[in-house]
Amino acid sequence: MPPSHTMAEKFIEGCVVGRTDYTESLFTLRFTAAIAPFEAGQFLRVGTEVLKDGASVPELRPYSLVNAPNDDVLEIVLTVVPEHAGGVVSPALHRLREGDGILVSPRANGFFTLAEVPSAPVLWALATGTGLGPFLSILATDRAWQQFETIVLVHAVRHAAELTYRERIAGLAKQHGERFRPLSVVSREPHPGALRGRIPALIASGELEARAGVALTAATGHVMLCGNPEMLRDTTAALEARGLTRHRPRKPGQITTEAYW
Ligand SMILES: Cc1cc2nc3c(=O)[nH]c(=O)nc-3n(C[C@H](O)[C@H](O)[C@H](O)COP(=O)(O)OP(=O)(O)OC[C@H]3O[C@@H](n4cnc5c(N)ncnc54)[C@H](O)[C@@H]3O)c2cc1C
Ligand SMILES: NC(=O)c1ccc[n+]([C@@H]2O[C@H](COP(=O)([O-])OP(=O)(O)OC[C@H]3O[C@@H](n4cnc5c(N)ncnc54)[C@H](OP(=O)(O)O)[C@@H]3O)[C@@H](O)[C@H]2O)c1
Repeated sequence: MPPSHTMAEKFIEGCVVGRTDYTESLFTLRFTAAIAPFEAGQFLRVGTEVLKDGASVPELRPYSLVNAPNDDVLEIVLTVVPEHAGGVVSPALHRLREGDGILVSPRANGFFTLAEVPSAPVLWALATGTGLGPFLSILATDRAWQQFETIVLVHAVRHAAELTYRERIAGLAKQHGERFRPLSVVSREPHPGALRGRIPALIASGELEARAGVALTAATGHVMLCGNPEMLRDTTAALEARGLTRHRPRKPGQITTEAYW
């Protein structure tokens, strides 16, 4: 009997069919793999074989799926946590190229889905960095546009180069017109058309609502937050100051979150 007896994680092998590099540490991977049907907003565990104590072992981490549930090609967007900062799987995935094998869990999981969110006039989808991913999957479904009259999508990044998926967002804007209000926030440099600063401060000052052209209230909105856990914490506090509360299955509220670390 080995000293530590853990169940090996189940995975299947997929194949990388493409990637896009936005910066030297921000990229997307597209791959094919025979996973079970999933719901928009869910995450898949993805990884590779990595060297651990001289042996090659499979190592997987959760990544939100960016693609719509009916797409044949799966897609994730990742930031590299450098090896010196403790990163294991993200640097290994960063080395993959078209044609390489990739390990994935056979099914996606998670509750950051519209089935878990009550209908409301306005959906506020607030993301930092790669936290944009699940919202793109959600916004590609008919359900999103049936469940909400207006959808505000806010993507907050440090630098303008990290504003991923601009074309896809522009495509949604063309498709949904006034019902869709995409906004960018860039915190560390001025960028034309983008708000400057951080989401919680932009909520507190009223700037976010002013730019979105719609009020953020407990009576009319549901807020989904994804990405940096500190953004989730500080934004939740800013929203609670306006009377919104966390949404729980037995105690409905207006705030739903997905923390990436
Ligand atoms: C539900 C869920 C969905 C996720 N979806 C995505 C996604 O779509 N894209 C994505 O890039 N990441 C996503 N993550 C994070 C991802 O699972 C990995 O943790 C991340 O890629 C780092 O993996 P690693 O093996 O390199 O480092 P790990 O061994 O996982 O972590 C090393 C250290 O880095 C910290 N860390 C973990 N993730 C990050 C991060 N993103 N930024 C900064 N520090 C971090 C950890 O706290 C830890 O101290 C998600 C996490 C969860 C829980
Ligand atoms: N190659 C690298 O070494 C490298 C490069 C990029 C990222 N990373 C790592 O990856 C992680 C995630 O990257 P990321 O680019 O998505 O960075 P991030 O730190 O999550 O920043 C994304 C956005 O969230 C904002 N933010 C941070 N804390 C917040 C808070 N408490 N409330 C509201 N907004 C907040 C940031 O504003 P501010 O600018 O004001 O903080 C920024 O606009 C980082 O923590 C970093 O460790 C590593």
